[in-house]
Amino acid sequence: MIQKYSSGSPVFTGAVVSELPALPADRLPLSSRIADGRFEITVPMSRDDIVYGLGETVRGINKRGWIYESYCSDDPFHTETKRSLYAAHNFIIISGETNTGIFVDFPAKITWDIGYTRRDEIKITAEGTDLDIYLITGGSPREVVRRFRAAIGKSYIPPFWAFGFQQSRWSYHNSAAVDRVIESYDRENIPLDCVYLDIDYMDAYKDFTVSEAAFPRFEEYVADKRRQDIHLIPIIDAGVKKEDGYSVFEEGREKGYFCKCADGTDFEGGVWPGVCCFPDFLRPEVREWFGSKYRGLLDMGIDGFWNDMNEPALFYSARGIEQALDKAAELKGQNLDLGKFFGLKDAFAGLGNRREDYESIYHIINGEPVNHQRVHNLYGANMTIAAGEYFAKSCGSEKILMFSRASYIGAHRCAGIWFGDNHSWWSHILLNLKMLPAANMCGFLYCGADLGGFNENATRDLVLRFLALGVFTPLMRNHSALGTRDQECYSFEDPQDFRDIIEVRYRLIPYLYNTFRSAAEQGDMMFRPLSFDYPHDKIARECETQLMLGDECMIAPVYEQNAGGRTVYLPEDMTFVRLSGTRVKKQELSKGLHYVDTALNEVPLFIKKGKKIPLCMPALRTARLDTKELEWIG
Ligand code: GLC
Repeated sequence: MIQKYSSGSPVFTGAVVSELPALPADRLPLSSRIADGRFEITVPMSRDDIVYGLGETVRGINKRGWIYESYCSDDPFHTETKRSLYAAHNFIIISGETNTGIFVDFPAKITWDIGYTRRDEIKITAEGTDLDIYLITGGSPREVVRRFRAAIGKSYIPPFWAFGFQQSRWSYHNSAAVDRVIESYDRENIPLDCVYLDIDYMDAYKDFTVSEAAFPRFEEYVADKRRQDIHLIPIIDAGVKKEDGYSVFEEGREKGYFCKCADGTDFEGGVWPGVCCFPDFLRPEVREWFGSKYRGLLDMGIDGFWNDMNEPALFYSARGIEQALDKAAELKGQNLDLGKFFGLKDAFAGLGNRREDYESIYHIINGEPVNHQRVHNLYGANMTIAAGEYFAKSCGSEKILMFSRASYIGAHRCAGIWFGDNHSWWSHILLNLKMLPAANMCGFLYCGADLGGFNENATRDLVLRFLALGVFTPLMRNHSALGTRDQECYSFEDPQDFRDIIEVRYRLIPYLYNTFRSAAEQGDMMFRPLSFDYPHDKIARECETQLMLGDECMIAPVYEQNAGGRTVYLPEDMTFVRLSGTRVKKQELSKGLHYVDTALNEVPLFIKKGKKIPLCMPALRTARLDTKELEWIG
């Protein structure tokens, strides 16, 4: 049963596609009130209830014991004391004696105090009173998810090749650098399908341009890579460089398509290219316009994109930088005591993603100006919807790879997501694992983290272990930041260990693709917490380091440095399979706790008794896989 309750006049978010009759919010069968312009819902929790959800955010599979915020944030430190990351996925399930899903369809900030202030209570506070709340009751958590997913519409399905291994770095600066990546992978016989073009492929970081110096005769170059069965995936950023003579900027300005300030002038903020204007993606005509701009790159043979900086990330606003520079000028030559020094430091350090700047931005919705803060969480999602809808219309579905950094439920119909700028930290292997079922609950099936970690230097063993989890994530991409140690698979000693891991991915593609497809078509999850499947098993209920995959498997990656294996809990009898290249080692294990050895070049997988999964032979590219010739293991 799914029931909608409405308060005030909610902004249309597009998250829900089912036509559902709404009851007034005062009929909500939960304690709620309006106070100080906020809508508050209080839900009691009993001691053993588990709270699932919130998609891409920090902390555990069970969200109890912390305060989270739905507020899309460009924050590259995914530490456990943060409250929000890049997405706003406003769906939770409270699971115990009964299972209740709550979706708060509201695009401004929401605070979710899940047993932080009072351990037996959830307090959901929306920064406004115009919202829709959906209550989904009855059945198991998986059924609650299916009902919710039926309401929000079918998840995006990427092209088949998007299940291949992908290599990225900020940045492969020119075509020679990209060629070196492909040649090095080929030399080591490590499978690869995609290479990413980060911001340096552009001319001065201008969207929809290509630097002629870095990538001469780009169209021919793309065609040459496609002949090698390699897809190049360029990045597109939300901000459009303010520059006379740059057609995207000039058109946007002339048509009045950029976000405004209160006085009606275009809002200006700094990102990679310097001062930018920001397309008002909340307007259908702007989405159509921006979406059609991808055409130029499509015509050059590009068939995949990643949308970035769309929270939107702001390094500074024109006003903010002016104020900071004034402060610096005022203090120049003075004795900088504690107050003055830190005042100066904060004036610059606090320039990015400032609340005041977001508050100064206006969108036009139905002809009326609407303050950005009221719709903040829709911005990136609508950039991605602009692209996704254009691709579906002009190229057909399942043709173009598209994923985004910022997101809101609804964008899951057009695109996937990646989990943003993580770190080369061991703890981020588990964070990646924990986000997977939560993202699936919200419809985001095509997702994954930067394998090996984005920020800071990775180590060989960390990358191998990270990849061994990534073998199962639909988006399997190694990506790292500018200035960090090279972390391509061939950059470390004994690259054959990496080949062993990546080949396992290619062997599993028929299984993973089918599991993904059926999850998309049936509104199901590809990854589930163990507690979804074994609700009465205490150890399974508390398990935060393993996941169920499809209806056949369980995954349990090794996530600790210098560990030659890990302890794993089997909620039923299973076959422990160690996959490495084309080698398969099997061991029957009974229900219970086991320590399992797993070498650095092995991928551990657990198959339920009585189930079998198919493996094909590996190939250097997905296009060269023989998916007919299958070996069934179990
Ligand atoms: C952002 C993205 C990251 C990218 C970088 C440069 O930090 O999250 O993936 O490499 O920008 O474009």
